[in-house]
Amino acid sequence: MKSTPHEPLILAERLTRIYPLGESSVVGLQDVSLRIHDGAFILLKGASGSGKSTLLSLLAGLDRPTSGRILVDGRDLGSAGADEMTRYRRETVGIVFQSFNLMPTLNVMENICLPGLLAGRPASAVKARARELLEWLQMVHRQRHIPAQLSGGEMQRVAIARALINDPRIIFADEPTGNLDSRNGRLVVEMLREMNQTLRRTLVLATHSPMADSLATAIITLRDGTVVDTAWKS
Ligand SMILES: Nc1ncnc2c1ncn2[C@@H]1O[C@H](COP(=O)(O)OP(=O)(O)OP(=O)(O)O)[C@@H](O)[C@H]1O
Ligand SMILES: [Mg+2]
Repeated sequence: MKSTPHEPLILAERLTRIYPLGESSVVGLQDVSLRIHDGAFILLKGASGSGKSTLLSLLAGLDRPTSGRILVDGRDLGSAGADEMTRYRRETVGIVFQSFNLMPTLNVMENICLPGLLAGRPASAVKARARELLEWLQMVHRQRHIPAQLSGGEMQRVAIARALINDPRIIFADEPTGNLDSRNGRLVVEMLREMNQTLRRTLVLATHSPMADSLATAIITLRDGTVVDTAWKS
């Protein structure tokens, strides 16, 4: 199913995530509703503990809400079984984390190709796409190196390529510049922006950095698990 121009690509309704903690519980997110349109560049802001990672995990299908609903392209994630959720994480979305999360024993090329092979695509097509992505990220000469031989900025570029290998419609990035110096941080933000602008992928980026403020189509600010402000940019 394809969303019409008027329907959001991602629709979240009254999302709540309560983390049980022994006898008590912690509120990660409370009653958050959002509409994210195809091609948007959404910036999530808010102090540490405000719920940015919780929200991204729910939208990316890494976690399930305690209550509330998420529809992506008209499909209700709440009624998706485990296999469908795996496919959603692998094919519809790409995820970039602060800590890169590369497989330490696989080289750059193998890391990038892995989600494509797991999705059951022909190895030749996956490799060809990986080569294009490596060229775009100016990492071709490092394709046989393992993550331990790369800098943080290079590892994050590999993680971006891995997130894009299955041509997902949506990229979720959680503090992708958090472990990088400002130059590499800017490079990563620039690559994410290019991916949003040139490849027309929807981007949801959580960051403390003001670096992407001028690039986003909307800035959503969270506080104590709720949305306190949504600023639309022209
Ligand atoms: N697995 C968990 N178990 C218990 N509490 C959690 C868990 N994950 C998050 N929380 C709590 O939920 C709230 C929101 O956390 P979250 O990680 O979403 O914030 P954040 O905005 O991403 O913060 P940061 O900017 O530090 O990454 C915090 O109070 C946090 O302690
Ligand atoms: Mg976080």
